[in-house]
Amino acid sequence: MTIRKAVIPCAGLGTRFLPFTKVMPKELVPLLDKPLIHHAIDEAIASDIDEIVLVTSPEKEALRRYFEELPKGLEGRSTDNPDLAFAGEYSSWGGTISFVEQREPNGLGHAVLMAEEAIGLEPFAVLLPDDLILSTSPTLKVMVELFEVYKSGLIAVEKVSWEKVGNYGIIDPEPVDEKVYRVNGVVEKPVEAQAPSDLAIVGRYIMPPEIFRFLEKTRPGARGEIQLTDGIGLMLEQFSVFAYRFDGIRHDIGNPIGLFGASLALADRRQIYMDVLNSFLDEFSAKRGMSS
Ligand code: G1P
Repeated sequence: MTIRKAVIPCAGLGTRFLPFTKVMPKELVPLLDKPLIHHAIDEAIASDIDEIVLVTSPEKEALRRYFEELPKGLEGRSTDNPDLAFAGEYSSWGGTISFVEQREPNGLGHAVLMAEEAIGLEPFAVLLPDDLILSTSPTLKVMVELFEVYKSGLIAVEKVSWEKVGNYGIIDPEPVDEKVYRVNGVVEKPVEAQAPSDLAIVGRYIMPPEIFRFLEKTRPGARGEIQLTDGIGLMLEQFSVFAYRFDGIRHDIGNPIGLFGASLALADRRQIYMDVLNSFLDEFSAKRGMSS
């Protein structure tokens, strides 16, 4: 069975972008020429997803409006210059985007559970738009291919420094292949001494539909929220889950500093932005040269 559907949770409060996020959803903050959310959509499309379910909160009407306006906004826009081809794969995509609401910010696990009806009885992907992964092949695409082999739940992971394990979901790994681990346990935001490894969950998942059954039973955990990690932990008692250590660099674009780093990293792939950056750097080093 192939992965056709993806859930993108977008109901978070965006506290790291306050007060902007009092009036505008964080997902609409631009990263170069398009909103953060659009970068996650691009990865889903590049991974052959044809139904995307956005989980939003009632305050995020602007997010829905963005996708309503997008086709109109594309009319007449030049796509000849690849640096200006803003909409990327979206313009020729034949898929659909639908919306479900998460009324209360009860956590990531709860957000995913809201998509149960839209997903139905098939395995599906989850992308967290705060995690931008720059790699040669889209990480989700590689995971969709791995799913064909392992036919089980999959989680993207990366090594983090031990001081940072408390910011993430952490897996208890058993190596099975060069970049693949069997997941023997998971813990959300552990204290360093209790972390089973330094392999942190990054926001790309492939989940069997059974995850919904376990999310229904998941009690509030870290931060008093219903955590996807805890739902996966319950599922592990009956189902195998594997982890994929992806190639590439992850940027946390849910905060201003991470967004700045990601802008530079993305600019490095786009000549039109590099021209601006290079001329800034020339000016900057000339000034520094003068002052030293
Ligand atoms: C969420 C997940 C966590 C994961 C992280 C990756 O945490 O709960 O397991 O490691 O995303 O970005 P959050 O960033 O919402 O605290």
